[in-house]
Amino acid sequence: MSDSYKIKHHGVEACSNQSDNPAFSAVLDARLSRRNVLQAGSAAGMATLAGGLLPALAHAAPQVATRSAARLGFAAVPFSVEDKVVVPAGYVAEVLYAWGDPVGLKGNSPAFKADASNSADEQAAQAGMHHDGMAFFPLPQGSQADKHGLLAINHEYTDDGLLHPDGMKSWSGDKVKKAQAAVGVSVIEVEAAGKGQGWRVVRPSKYARRITANTPMAIGGPAHGHALMQTEADPKGVEILGTLNNCANGKTPWGTYLTCEENFDGYFVNDSGTLSDNEKRYGIKNKDAGYKWAWEDFRFDLQINPNEANRFGWVVEIDPYDPKSKPVKRTALGRFKHEGATVTLAPDGRAVVYMGDDQRFEYIYKFVSKNRYQPNNRKANSRLLDEGTLYVARFDADGTGQWLPLVHGQNGVDASKGFADQGEVAIKARMAADVVGATKMDRPEWIAVNPRVAGEVYCTLTNNSERGSEGKPGVDAANPRADNKFGHILRWQEAGGNAAANSFKWDIFALAGKPDAAKAEHQGALKGDVFGSPDGLAFDRQGVLWVQTDVSTSTVNMKEYAGMGNNQMLAVLPESGEFRRFLTGPKGCEITGISFTPDSKTLFINIQHPGEPESERSDPVQPTAISSWPDGAGRPRSATVAIRKLDGGVIGS
Ligand code: FEO
Ligand code: CA
Ligand code: CA
Repeated sequence: MSDSYKIKHHGVEACSNQSDNPAFSAVLDARLSRRNVLQAGSAAGMATLAGGLLPALAHAAPQVATRSAARLGFAAVPFSVEDKVVVPAGYVAEVLYAWGDPVGLKGNSPAFKADASNSADEQAAQAGMHHDGMAFFPLPQGSQADKHGLLAINHEYTDDGLLHPDGMKSWSGDKVKKAQAAVGVSVIEVEAAGKGQGWRVVRPSKYARRITANTPMAIGGPAHGHALMQTEADPKGVEILGTLNNCANGKTPWGTYLTCEENFDGYFVNDSGTLSDNEKRYGIKNKDAGYKWAWEDFRFDLQINPNEANRFGWVVEIDPYDPKSKPVKRTALGRFKHEGATVTLAPDGRAVVYMGDDQRFEYIYKFVSKNRYQPNNRKANSRLLDEGTLYVARFDADGTGQWLPLVHGQNGVDASKGFADQGEVAIKARMAADVVGATKMDRPEWIAVNPRVAGEVYCTLTNNSERGSEGKPGVDAANPRADNKFGHILRWQEAGGNAAANSFKWDIFALAGKPDAAKAEHQGALKGDVFGSPDGLAFDRQGVLWVQTDVSTSTVNMKEYAGMGNNQMLAVLPESGEFRRFLTGPKGCEITGISFTPDSKTLFINIQHPGEPESERSDPVQPTAISSWPDGAGRPRSATVAIRKLDGGVIGS
């Protein structure tokens, strides 16, 4: 989901008129030498930049270009405005699982009705809307199977203009129920039917599952049973109904799925006229600020259930191999607008989870578990994410950075600042991060860990058109562009190559943008194919970094983006820094979800919100005005796509 969606959702227009940045050439100069900062392993020099500082080593020698065995063997595809998925010659992209397709529950497999007349109960047995993060889990469990497995798929939010036959012209409890059944997570069983025959969903499947906004969930970690988690329906604060706005994801080494609750605030309302500091900090609004979902008629009215919003904004762990397992909200990882949760292991076996909070001027976090991963003890691993230390990142102008612990009693995070205990620190993680002085970023989205370089981590910062505008934070070293419409990709190297380290060095891997843009700060500094608004980000096993874009429909129509076509996916080898466009999506979609089979010969991605209009809610009278992907007729549908090489080779090779 784009940030502009949420802003417009509340009836507030984003500001985008900024003055030129007079020192922008300094960014380009620094960018050209930036690869040396991390790989040289020495102290970074500094370049002045419009009030901020950008680390650089302007005089260091060029670095080795061949750390990875991977090569990009495909011919780039051009920008596209076509209403289809375009992949390079020699590849095929096949739709696997679209909104409304049955998930595969035994004896309950309702077919999709093209006029959107499926009931709420039927929707709860079908693919939800707006597919986002996703992960592949081989079958049998513990294997490295490449042709058979489970896909856990997020359904981020709903376009109610498409979801109901008459869209949002009226509202009813049944419509709310259908919307609540169209978010959450799908677990589907998938198999490749045979050589050259592509993938299919196995139906029925004993693994098939839909998790919705009403599925009971347990609470793990410091907020379990906390007073701020208690409601009339759950006086002990131990069970939450549902998960919402499931954006990006993570996958643990012990074979569980992490789904991340992003813009949960939009589902709640507090119409009392008075908002608490907690509600304000997380974006809860009054009804008259533009609220229109009407979920408040149920349990999302904070005047009736003041603590219900504290029960969303978490990372939720799901065991996809056990359809009867109860998902757990892992509160030790903090409450914010979670984009993703990328898991790696420290050298000593502790689990480390990297997480972005995707809103303008929010933070990058990491969690380090107290205990160690045990390869043969899945039950013990299932508790790893309940105990540990949550940190937030500060990026210093000299190219170093610190992980600042959010621990009750340390660094001013205590009762004097309103935190009674660690549970309250977790629930109000954003406010704790404010206290310790973390760096306000340009909308942190996905985070990827390089499998070939110990402790090297990449993060997409999708955009921030408010950077440097009146009353907002100005540029800094890690967020060096005012009116940052195109976004950038940041990289850091943990001290000693240890993911659990307290400090790191960092640099800017790429500044996205058009080379011929009128304004200097929109021009970017990219080698290879041009893109904007990077969002999805993941490494494959070969060490290729894959980047997906989410330029919102309202932004793509801006003059700054003119000629850039539909959203896209690119590949880049970190050591070359040269981006190559691999895929373009249909009209009005974003590209998201990156998951490979263990052999890297199938890539699953998601096409989210094809046909999305600028208003971000479709007109049910003309649902196909922009796109009718993937069916070629009728309502556009978000869908999972399986991509493979016709010669059976590794994707990207
Ligand atoms: Fe749901 Fe930040 O993308
Ligand atoms: Ca996005
Ligand atoms: Ca995203």
